[in-house]
Amino acid sequence: MTKVLMVCLGNICRSPLAEGILKSKILGSNVFVDSAGTGAYHVGEQPDTRSIAIANSKGIDIADQKARKFTVKDFDLFDVIYVMDNSNYKNVISLARNNQDASKVKLILNEVFPNENLDVPDPYYGGEFGFKNVYNMLNEACEVIAKKIN
Ligand code: 4NP
Repeated sequence: MTKVLMVCLGNICRSPLAEGILKSKILGSNVFVDSAGTGAYHVGEQPDTRSIAIANSKGIDIADQKARKFTVKDFDLFDVIYVMDNSNYKNVISLARNNQDASKVKLILNEVFPNENLDVPDPYYGGEFGFKNVYNMLNEACEVIAKKIN
């Protein structure tokens, strides 16, 4: 079983979308995908309506997800922790207890653009283009990830 965690700041815009997209590309039952946020602002909430809408338009239902906060225990529960941007990276790495924890944390766009350390931009305060853009980036990255773990 490969366990993958998607992490952003609020766990309502980017990481729920990443979770939904990756799940849609998983073929068997040997992969577990979840998402979390480094901030607690939206804990218990469902994803942002704009993330739900862009996912729906691609045939992916993420409406049942509930935001939760990333915890140190996630280092034990997951094999790979994909963060959306460099700020998430700093926040998650700051909680790592050892090198093994730290080695699990990867910027998701490095799957598409290795070593470039690019951000999936936070679309929270932007318009709809932001969410389409985020969807396209995450879709490309999840395609690469799915090929690796399927
Ligand atoms: P996310 O977007 O990290 O992609 O879920 C955000 C959602 C909410 C906030 C920030 C980012 N916020 O500050 O409330």
